[in-house]
Amino acid sequence: MDLGGTNIRVCSVDLHGDSTYNVKKSKMTIPRKLMVTRAGHELFSFIAERVDTFLKTYHPIFLNKSSYPQIISLGLTFSYPVYQSAVNSGILLRWTKGFDIPDIVGQDVCRLLQREIDLRHLPIKVTALVNDAAGTIMSRAYTLPVSSTRTSMGVIFGTGTNCVYLEKLSNIVKPMEGSYDSSTGEMFISTEWGSFDNQLSVLPNTKFDAKLDKVSLNPGDQMFEKRVAGMFLGELLRIIVSEMHTDPEINLFPAYRSNNERKINKNQPALLTRWSVDSSILSVAEADSSDRLGILRAKIEEELGIPSPLVSVEDAQAVKMITHAIGKRAARLAGMAVGAVVLKSQRLHEVKVSTEGYCEKLVDDSDLKTTIGIKADRSGISADQHTIDIAVDGSLIEFYPNFEKYMRQAIRVIEGIGVPGEEKIHIRIAKDGSSVGAAIIALLASQQVMVSSSST
Ligand code: BGC
Repeated sequence: MDLGGTNIRVCSVDLHGDSTYNVKKSKMTIPRKLMVTRAGHELFSFIAERVDTFLKTYHPIFLNKSSYPQIISLGLTFSYPVYQSAVNSGILLRWTKGFDIPDIVGQDVCRLLQREIDLRHLPIKVTALVNDAAGTIMSRAYTLPVSSTRTSMGVIFGTGTNCVYLEKLSNIVKPMEGSYDSSTGEMFISTEWGSFDNQLSVLPNTKFDAKLDKVSLNPGDQMFEKRVAGMFLGELLRIIVSEMHTDPEINLFPAYRSNNERKINKNQPALLTRWSVDSSILSVAEADSSDRLGILRAKIEEELGIPSPLVSVEDAQAVKMITHAIGKRAARLAGMAVGAVVLKSQRLHEVKVSTEGYCEKLVDDSDLKTTIGIKADRSGISADQHTIDIAVDGSLIEFYPNFEKYMRQAIRVIEGIGVPGEEKIHIRIAKDGSSVGAAIIALLASQQVMVSSSST
């Protein structure tokens, strides 16, 4: 079960144990009324209902106790900051990405979901709580051959952003509560870098950033995320472009303005409506390099509500320049953050220079609704021992052209990394990794429970 910033996904994963798996999945956009509400239980009731419907549709046999007496192990991918003191429990610290349900903050989200599942008498136990970035590492690691590299970082550049990396236990100085397995000498750390530099001592801060922060649900918080993640970049563009339109000295979209003056348009266009612009416009603008920017002009109509005949090529060029600045800044900030974690993890000194190139797509199964076999990614086996393997997921890294290129440009100028270090970094997309990774962690967690209960 994967609760992200935009979608809710339920999937069942059949792990074959040889780097391959089958998956069945269903996806739904989270209804807005469940994201901002006083009635917290409604969200978890909705999630449990989705799980119920999924089982009835894809696995009715699991609901028949006499033919299937086992309990199903569920991994909950919950991509919000939590205080996690065990694999199957975590207290929500604060909401991000447009959620605001105050009475869930401070509660154990696994217990809330289990309660709703039990109310429906479903044969399910929530065995793992997983951040999406951690799930992404796990799914990437699972699809790599055992002899190959270890994926040591998982990064999300989607609606929100975060990085989880493997840290040596000996480097963790903070006192840790709860139960954990120390046998490997390592632990995943969820950096929650979305709230890096909330005090803005190093992040760039334009008047447009300040305006966006002011109208957000969490002013003063998630300042890095507000400059890097998909949830905010469309709104940032809208704020800039609307100011350029209303300022008579700049007069962006002049044909639209004079058209409006003649015809008094009662409907407020998306251009002037908060949070109405999807960040996919950035990818379209970056990709359209035609002379007349026809695709971008059509997208401006779709996203900003300005009819494309009223959008001149010059207007579209201006929008393209602004989206480029927003996207490139986001990618370079993202690169800096990745570089900082690479340095912190001290793994650069442990690997030799790789001969391999850039990002490769893993398996693209975006439209998958029914079971299919997924092949393991066996590319780059020979070079893998020489690399820092980073699993990434999210709409920006997947769809924004050049996001990785600009990230790499920034990584290369970081002292202590440089070009040789940057070449050791492999960035691979692990599509839908967060959901599959949660299933892997849920399985491991349920096996641990079985081992510990059989040894007592
Ligand atoms: C959340 C993280 C999450 C990231 C990516 C952020 O808003 O705080 O927990 O991993 O979004 O989904």
